[in-house]
Amino acid sequence: GSNAMWGGRFAEGPSAVMAEINASIGFDKALWRQDIAASKAHMAMLGAQGIVSSGDAATIADGLDKVAAEYEADGVPEDWALEDIHMTTESRLAELIGPVAGRLHTGRSRNDQVATDFKLWVREAIEQMDGALAALQSALVQRAHEHAASIMPGFTHLQTAQPVTLGHHLLAYYEMLERDRSRFADARVRLNRSPLGSAALAGTGFPIDRNATAQALGFDGPTHNSLDAVSDRDFALDYLMAAAQCSLHLSRLAEEFVIWASQPFGFVRMPDTLSTGSSIMPQKKNPDAAELVRGHAGRIVGCATALMVTMKGLPLAYSKDMQDDKPPVFEAHGLLELSIAAMTGMVADSTFRTDRMRQAAELGYATATDLADWLVTQADIPFREAHHITGAAVRLAEERGVALDALPLADLQAIDKRIDDRVFDSLSVDASVAARSSYGGTAPQQVRLQTAHAADRLGIT
Ligand code: ARG
Repeated sequence: GSNAMWGGRFAEGPSAVMAEINASIGFDKALWRQDIAASKAHMAMLGAQGIVSSGDAATIADGLDKVAAEYEADGVPEDWALEDIHMTTESRLAELIGPVAGRLHTGRSRNDQVATDFKLWVREAIEQMDGALAALQSALVQRAHEHAASIMPGFTHLQTAQPVTLGHHLLAYYEMLERDRSRFADARVRLNRSPLGSAALAGTGFPIDRNATAQALGFDGPTHNSLDAVSDRDFALDYLMAAAQCSLHLSRLAEEFVIWASQPFGFVRMPDTLSTGSSIMPQKKNPDAAELVRGHAGRIVGCATALMVTMKGLPLAYSKDMQDDKPPVFEAHGLLELSIAAMTGMVADSTFRTDRMRQAAELGYATATDLADWLVTQADIPFREAHHITGAAVRLAEERGVALDALPLADLQAIDKRIDDRVFDSLSVDASVAARSSYGGTAPQQVRLQTAHAADRLGIT
């Protein structure tokens, strides 16, 4: 048969393929709470403005509550003929309260409706992300505080560079997540204008009150251009970009756990609860959760790409391509939430093998820069020359298979006679990190300063 909403214009109903390609109910049913809330706000406004009688407005509001209660109890029915959440809800409303339901759509279109619903959904998603990221930050800060003075090798090119503290390393991720939270917060600021009342594209002749609906739905005010309002998906893209960038950070952290947990490193024992075994190799404990966080980042970046490409060629205003905006946002959100939860558990419950970390720092000539710095400050040698002298000392230590501070003074003096025994004070990994006390540096004292600052921000003690 022909369509209940627009059947007047059509002699024939849609083919099966048309119904299937057109239907978004399978995914946009996730918007049902937002759709009911926006409809109730719209209805209350129509009643207050006298566009719909107060009796009809009350009947419709009650009816919407009943539909919501049904969805809550039984889920949202998926009927392709009803296409999307908006028509599914309106059609059920009509079954419950009769033809008066038809007054709900006065001065509104699905175009402003879907933009409004989706914004409300993304706004909530942003709030969830902020909470989840704060929890991961708290775990990082707690472990950083515990390991403010634990020594590990710091790397560049994944080659041992200089000793750092584990607390300092973990706080680097705190900082990344702080920027992620700020990106999500920015997205929320730009998002928070209400498209409702923009109608199909041109606005409406009904004397609606857009400020009232905006306020009822927690927006800062109405959007200023109806064409833009119904065809803007920047808010979804802002969300996806923030999510994509956040996923890159989680992926890097996950990668570190994968490397650190491997036997030649042995820096970390991941919790059993976030690892898997092998069906053939009994000794195995695999970092699958971390690997999947790394993998999910690829999918999340794909979601951001998908929506950018969907939007790039669209003329104003609404085109049906825009219905494809929701799956990537829903997918990215689910993947990111799970990834954050996995990394929170990983950070909180892993055992850091500080003995192995210290040993690796000591064996990797990580204090070579300290020797060069000593030659500059104590023997007044130009840094380039000091670098060369130190290189010779490292080569000798490497030949002997010992750490730098295990070279006898006589051997060091054979390389350069200006070296004296005070040098040994700066060749230990502890002296090295303690010396790096510039603001934001790796010295335990700086790490404690930053954990205190972060704990304050997070409201933890
Ligand atoms: N299901 C649609 C979407 O998600 C709702 C808007 C449809 N509007 C239209 N004119 N066909 O985009």
